[in-house]
Amino acid sequence: MTDQYIMALDQGTTSTRAILFDHSGTAIATAQKELPQIFRESGWVEHDATKIWDDARQVMAEVVIQANVAPYKVAGIGITNQRETTIIWDRKTGEPISSAIVWQSKQTSQIAEELKKQGLTELVHEKTGLWIDAYFSATKIMWLLENIPGARQKAEAGELLFGTVDTWLLYKLTNGAIHASDMTNASRTMLYNIHTLDWDDKLLELFDIPRAMLPKVQESSSNFGYTADFAFFGIQVPITGIAGDQQAALIGHKAFNVGDVKNTFGTGSFIVMNTGDHVAQSNNGLLSTIAYSINGEVRYALEGSVFVAGAAVQWLRDGLNLIKSAKDTSDMAQRGYEQHPEPVYLVPAFSGLGAPYWDQQARGAMFGLTRATTKNDLVRATLDSLAYQTRDVLTVMAEDTAIDLSSLVIDGGGAANDYLHQFQADLLQMEVTRPKQVETTALGAAFLAGLGVGYWASVADLPDASEVIVRQPEYAKAEERERAYLGWKKAIAATQFFK
Ligand code: G3P
Repeated sequence: MTDQYIMALDQGTTSTRAILFDHSGTAIATAQKELPQIFRESGWVEHDATKIWDDARQVMAEVVIQANVAPYKVAGIGITNQRETTIIWDRKTGEPISSAIVWQSKQTSQIAEELKKQGLTELVHEKTGLWIDAYFSATKIMWLLENIPGARQKAEAGELLFGTVDTWLLYKLTNGAIHASDMTNASRTMLYNIHTLDWDDKLLELFDIPRAMLPKVQESSSNFGYTADFAFFGIQVPITGIAGDQQAALIGHKAFNVGDVKNTFGTGSFIVMNTGDHVAQSNNGLLSTIAYSINGEVRYALEGSVFVAGAAVQWLRDGLNLIKSAKDTSDMAQRGYEQHPEPVYLVPAFSGLGAPYWDQQARGAMFGLTRATTKNDLVRATLDSLAYQTRDVLTVMAEDTAIDLSSLVIDGGGAANDYLHQFQADLLQMEVTRPKQVETTALGAAFLAGLGVGYWASVADLPDASEVIVRQPEYAKAEERERAYLGWKKAIAATQFFK
């Protein structure tokens, strides 16, 4: 099997990618398509589910052609995806009943507030590990059933199916034969009981969601079915791995030990710690969630979800036209620091604040501007905010678990930013490591699929990252960074006050 390949299909918030990995875990080819965001109303974010599927098919074909690999040499497929994003489609026609509601979308904030008012916070947290929020799928399903004409009746009659993006792609890849998901994705719906490992009847009743809409839930590494027409080549390839993108990144880092923690910089930034076979509880707004399930063993995680990370850099580029490309930010921030060491603060609460604050109403703010402030300072403030948010989460994570964190692994687009990499190490006063190949999410999906199809015999058999870049903290900067972090905490407090 070592002369074969594993394909990862990575459907993220802003792009759809297919990546082919060889047996050493090296990405040999990548194909990608940007995914347009639909903003119909202020605070809403939607996607065209049909486009997601069309793009997925295209990139899968493209990557095989690009790599010049015979399609039958693809031993298995792993899917990883933006989590929580909600799609409902017609069981008979396979057509979505409306746009997909994206995880970031705030169109269901009102429903979330009402559930909180009904006093359901503790019950929901106890069962699902999640804190009630518009972020998760449940309120999105409720909204669609309420607002799309005829949806409620059809759902009651068993004519509609719900899925997160993994489920949608699996359904399409199998030509409608399979309606299934994996435990990591299910654990983000706010409907899945992470203790009993089943959809929770009490929550379904409270939220008025028919069980018949929900997919069957399997282990992350297991046989989900076969492609009906793999990448237009008409062959059947097994789909043997599925995980939400943040959990997949954890797996891609081989963070299989209790206390292992990673941070992925995508649209948002998601800090996830493996807590082993028990559900760790947070007193500080972190989520308890399923990390993965492989070979009958379920592993849990604590997660700090930060809603805006790469999205803030995108805002510098597209909203403010301050930069041409994200690549420029590292040098600009460094120059900003050298010219004006005293920091400017940006609190990028563009869609509220996630962990550990969970404040849906907060909005972005800047502090410390002077007449001397330049765009380099604003770029620096943006990158710094990503590191401050990481520290916010890691601080409470250490408190919640009583685990003394000594190192962090990072991945995703922002991980390749040298300024941010070093600033994180300095601010956290810990070693921060990134793999040279930052496709860790896709690699995690490939690992799951490869394990599922026997491409790698066991977890112990999974290849290590070929090269890593390690940044040590500059101890001389510890005091200066401490002062900067205190300033950040004040900026957060002021942002929450002013709303
Ligand atoms: O929970 C949302 C997360 O899965 C989105 O990840 O990488 O698409 O920003 P990303």
